[in-house]
Amino acid sequence: MTDRESGTGFEPLRYHQATKHSPSSVRRGTHRIDRKDPPEQFKRYLELAPISLPAPAPDTGYPTSRAITGRPADPRPLDLAELTRLVVCAAGIKRIRAQAGAEPIYLRTYASAGALYPIEVYLACAGVDGLGDGVYHYSPLDEALRLVRPGDPRPFLMRACGNRPSIGRAPVTAVLSGIPWRTNWKYQARGYRHLFWDAGMLAANLLALCASGGHSCEVVLGFVDSELDALVGIDGHSELSVCLIPIGFDEAAGAGAEPSTGPAAQVHHPVGRISFHQREYPEVTEAHLNTALQSCAKAQLWQQDPFPNQAPPPSDFAFTGIEQVIRKRGSKGSFSRAPIPADDLEGIIVASTYSLPCDWGEDLTQVGLVVNAVSGLEPGAYSAVWGMQQIALGNLRERAQFLCLEQKLGGDAAATLFLLTDLEDATTTLGARSYRAAQLNAGIVGGRIYLCTYGCGLGATGLTFYDDEVRNLFQTQAEPMLVVAVGA
Ligand SMILES: Cc1cc2nc3c(=O)[nH]c(=O)nc-3n(C[C@H](O)[C@H](O)[C@H](O)COP(=O)(O)O)c2cc1C
Repeated sequence: MTDRESGTGFEPLRYHQATKHSPSSVRRGTHRIDRKDPPEQFKRYLELAPISLPAPAPDTGYPTSRAITGRPADPRPLDLAELTRLVVCAAGIKRIRAQAGAEPIYLRTYASAGALYPIEVYLACAGVDGLGDGVYHYSPLDEALRLVRPGDPRPFLMRACGNRPSIGRAPVTAVLSGIPWRTNWKYQARGYRHLFWDAGMLAANLLALCASGGHSCEVVLGFVDSELDALVGIDGHSELSVCLIPIGFDEAAGAGAEPSTGPAAQVHHPVGRISFHQREYPEVTEAHLNTALQSCAKAQLWQQDPFPNQAPPPSDFAFTGIEQVIRKRGSKGSFSRAPIPADDLEGIIVASTYSLPCDWGEDLTQVGLVVNAVSGLEPGAYSAVWGMQQIALGNLRERAQFLCLEQKLGGDAAATLFLLTDLEDATTTLGARSYRAAQLNAGIVGGRIYLCTYGCGLGATGLTFYDDEVRNLFQTQAEPMLVVAVGA
């Protein structure tokens, strides 16, 4: 047991073990996706009136590599038009893909495994010019907000987050929640991992956009789950809180709100059905409960300062404006096998793992990679923890394809990046909650890799993987959290 919170770490590791992919688990699998009853892509409130968002503030055109490494531009006022730029660009719809005999797929500006988009966004606002104080749900379908709770939410947020100063000062806190059924429908119990990966993809967009508007921001996981769920009006089971991102909390935002003496009363608004039939995955419920924080004191114990930079920020290498990159980003369906420059690869790795502003105090993601075609680097497996360390040299294209659930993309990529965390170490030091942090940290790094890659004119795709086979290649006890392949 740690002093950070009550979980021992053992329970989430059990969930992790039980949801690993292996060649035999995939071949033995009997799960059939019920294509006649897919989950609704959007949360629909039946009784709340839409509040249309205004035209967004103009694009900043801020260079992508600067935005990703969190070097803030000159600050803009955080009014409703600027908030619209942030939320629509980070989480809106970028394209509609028709499907024969089924609802079209509304592709979003962030990557999501299976394009299932289990993440919802709420905006807790106080003192935003053009918007009354309250908690709003963001609907990408009609680009509108819906007021789920009126009034200044900051005292309740402060209490739920163990008095985190950024939360008390921020005029806007984005709350990302996850709807497990949207992803369990296809990925079964492993879908719980996807909530954090997809939230990380969205968060990577939002953090970079905040930097481009000069707004301070950080990712907060130290919150009392039941109190945050009640505040945004979700039940913590069919929809659960994943993380918060307070925005614009610098000194200019004033002294900040004091915590409330009690939690927010639960709000409830009727919403449309998600599917006709849903299956329960007790492993998911258990993993979520085992990593929950039950009291304000536990939330406070979790809180750490953001981890310091290990190195100076990388020199700029991706100059395209961040908004343009986010809108153009898409997952590659194939790679050409052409080599990419070593400088680009190094820039992508350094920038995407650089200084994450968060409340878990240490970078939980290490990068291992298979190099297939990078000019100036011998093909093989490397660890990128302290510079590039060779693990095995030689042509590993077939092996990389095999590791990525035998998908060709893993072998055709110029480099396949494996995002790893030593879960035993993390849970021993930080407690059970660190399981969520490890998955989310990897999701954000993965999202940053996508953006950096597109920013320098290359392509990327997230990939799933055979867990233990990856550990064997890298000869590590760290566990793979996520894979992103990059190439031409
Ligand atoms: C965590 C994660 C895992 C993914 N795994 C795969 C995969 O195994 N195979 C694949 O072809 N695409 C994979 N993708 C890409 C998604 O299919 C893609 O993001 C989604 O279809 C939306 O399309 P877009 O990224 O082009 O916007 C993954 C994406 C994410 C974020």
